[in-house]
Amino acid sequence: MAVTALLGTCSIGSLRTGFLSLLRQQLPVCAVFMSSSSQFREEQLRIRQAQLMSRGLPKQKPIPGVKHVVVVASGKGGVGKSTTAVNLALGIAASDQVKAVGLLDADVYGPSIPRMMNLKGNPELSKNNLMIPLVNYSIKCMSMGFLVEETAPIVWRGLMVMSAIEKLLRQVDWGELDYLVIDMPPGTGDVQLSISQNVPISGAVIVSTPQDIALVDARRGAEMFQKVNVPILGLVQNMSVFQCPKCNHETHIFGEEGARRLAETLGFDVLGDIPLHINIRETSDQGRPVVVSDPQSSEAKAYLKIASEVLSRIS
Ligand SMILES: Nc1ncnc2c1ncn2[C@@H]1O[C@H](COP(=O)(O)OP(=O)(O)O)[C@@H](O)[C@H]1O
Ligand SMILES: [Mg+2]
Repeated sequence: MAVTALLGTCSIGSLRTGFLSLLRQQLPVCAVFMSSSSQFREEQLRIRQAQLMSRGLPKQKPIPGVKHVVVVASGKGGVGKSTTAVNLALGIAASDQVKAVGLLDADVYGPSIPRMMNLKGNPELSKNNLMIPLVNYSIKCMSMGFLVEETAPIVWRGLMVMSAIEKLLRQVDWGELDYLVIDMPPGTGDVQLSISQNVPISGAVIVSTPQDIALVDARRGAEMFQKVNVPILGLVQNMSVFQCPKCNHETHIFGEEGARRLAETLGFDVLGDIPLHINIRETSDQGRPVVVSDPQSSEAKAYLKIASEVLSRIS
């Protein structure tokens, strides 16, 4: 319309008609040109956005000397994550193919590895100023619990927690490790996200009890790892069945098949079931995990099975 209005001022009618027909002929070409230029602009915008977003994400950097990192996580506390992490690390170390295993306690608010692995004291520093892990049952361990008193109030918030995690990840002299098992804090917060984005992780083991509420949290935990492209190795169903130490009678206290159904819904494998057994609790609390203190027991065998499932999924 604007062109017609402009040409309307032209006094020579034939010139006006000729120009309009020329314009009509060229219009399809213009449309093609305009649409391809808008596609080009969209493509430019997409590349720019991807560049900006990748700048915001931390680069994943392997931990020197560590071949595989396996994280043990759950959406919720008290489901047996640390107990599983400890016995899984010992179970992996028991395999013939594995030479060296480490265990990192990333639960800076409530570290349990010192008690469960019967370790305490401050780590020495190496020549390069890296912390040398404490060792028990041939597992190299590092935990915030070695750096602060057990009774000291832990009032870290935000950045201080992150810098503690950064130190535990980067300032430890692990030497050569085939596997580093990380006991994650409960939930799906900054610590989990930061570890998943900073370190390449071979796989996550999700621990859950068969209670409905714990399963909701386990699902949230699993989905967080999926979002950051950490492969989920599978689910461990903890305390699924109570085994009476006297008569071996079995009771499904929290319901029988919750974790199995969750795993099916999400398309994950169940790596194994751990019974609710007093031997597991007592040995953990005494710093003599069941896999080393009673390796022939059915409880220890349950952890050993999970360790072999993990190994078969990674190597
Ligand atoms: N299968 C089990 N049988 C008996 N007690 C267990 C079992 N799993 C964990 N526990 C006990 O439950 C408590 C919480 O376990 P823990 O591993 O510390 O949980 P989380 O790390 O998820 O908070 C501990 O006292 C532990 O000994
Ligand atoms: Mg714990």
